Amino acid sequence: MHFPSSFLWGAALSSYQVEGGNTHSDWYLWEREKHLEPAGVSCDHYNLFENDFFLASRLNINSIRLSIEWARIYHEPLRAQLDELTHYQHVLEVLHKFKITPLVTLHHFTNPVWFNKRGGWLASKNIDFFLLYLKEVVGQLKEKVEYWLIFNEPLVYLYYGFIEGRWSPGIKSLKKAKLALNNIITAYSLGYQEIKRIYKNSQRRSYVSFAKNLRAFYPCPRFNLGLNNLSAFMRDRMFNLFLLEYCAKKNLMDFIGANYYCKEYTKFGGLTGKECNHTFHKERRNDMDWYIYPEGLYEILVRLKNFRLPIIITENGSAESKNHLYEDYLIAHLKSIAYALHADINVQGYFWWSLLDNFEWHKGFAPRFGLVAVDYKTQGRFVRPFAFTYAQIIKENGMEV
Ligand code: BGC
Repeated sequence: MHFPSSFLWGAALSSYQVEGGNTHSDWYLWEREKHLEPAGVSCDHYNLFENDFFLASRLNINSIRLSIEWARIYHEPLRAQLDELTHYQHVLEVLHKFKITPLVTLHHFTNPVWFNKRGGWLASKNIDFFLLYLKEVVGQLKEKVEYWLIFNEPLVYLYYGFIEGRWSPGIKSLKKAKLALNNIITAYSLGYQEIKRIYKNSQRRSYVSFAKNLRAFYPCPRFNLGLNNLSAFMRDRMFNLFLLEYCAKKNLMDFIGANYYCKEYTKFGGLTGKECNHTFHKERRNDMDWYIYPEGLYEILVRLKNFRLPIIITENGSAESKNHLYEDYLIAHLKSIAYALHADINVQGYFWWSLLDNFEWHKGFAPRFGLVAVDYKTQGRFVRPFAFTYAQIIKENGMEV
């Protein structure tokens, strides 16, 4: 089955997870406060990006999703670090040199330290700081970028940072999470309109959206199936659909950015149900303990068709202890996309998470998601065997299904 000729065959990265040395970011403090494994120099991608993108181009990858670290550009609220903007200009030039299309994320879970100290996403007056950063970055980089993702997985960020409190800023309050959500939605809406304004007089087009985490919610078959069913339905509405429906209704998305990894069993509890922790031994799980369920990607794509917008899979991937499991995961999920294309669903791109092994937030460096393995002691890069399979599929622009 052939994929569309303009298909974006990609791999994704995020600044804090790979760059190293992001000492002005809130996660830098958080790791110290909570005694977590620190990101440190991570993959030193800040210095080795050219080498990393060269490897990507050798794997036939034609698109890279990366993020800009807000705290690098704004060490303080109002003054941008021009040298850091020049750095990202250079990063984009290198991508273009390799004929790789960039997708740029503006917020991938981290904030500047000063932003959190002023109340972070809980204070509506702080939205202006984010918009200032957005204007500056988009204004400077507009000639080199067409695809923008304003936020990565806002609901995941809010869940871990404001409900569970496991991530910075470590808040555990549903009320505050709702407040932060409102502010993030406002920042997104204003940011979307601002990017459109900036591109009005540009030669380039802009495609703007956010990356939405999506899971295949299934009722836990143990105990009360009826109630679990209801919870799975509620969870699907809340965590998969609500934000997409809101933005689609307001015309605030040019495409859907879909991050899909796994299935979740849901049990009854609270308004939106809970993740069921029971282990289903017959089902495959990866190193993150996630249930692998490629059919879920197809099921979700079928439902996303109703939005009548192009879809880009902005993240999909797995951390595995065995090489052949990466390959199984990749092929099975690409097949789901092939079936979706066959069903006339407008999927325009696929990004493996991640190009490199990287810093997996509170789990540190143990989970390894990379097409390219990283030796953190030497900063050596080693292409995993399944990456060659990916390269071959890209070369053929398709696969047998
Ligand atoms: C996030 C990444 C993370 C990946 C694997 C995604 O939801 O955007 O930052 O590393 O999941 O957990």
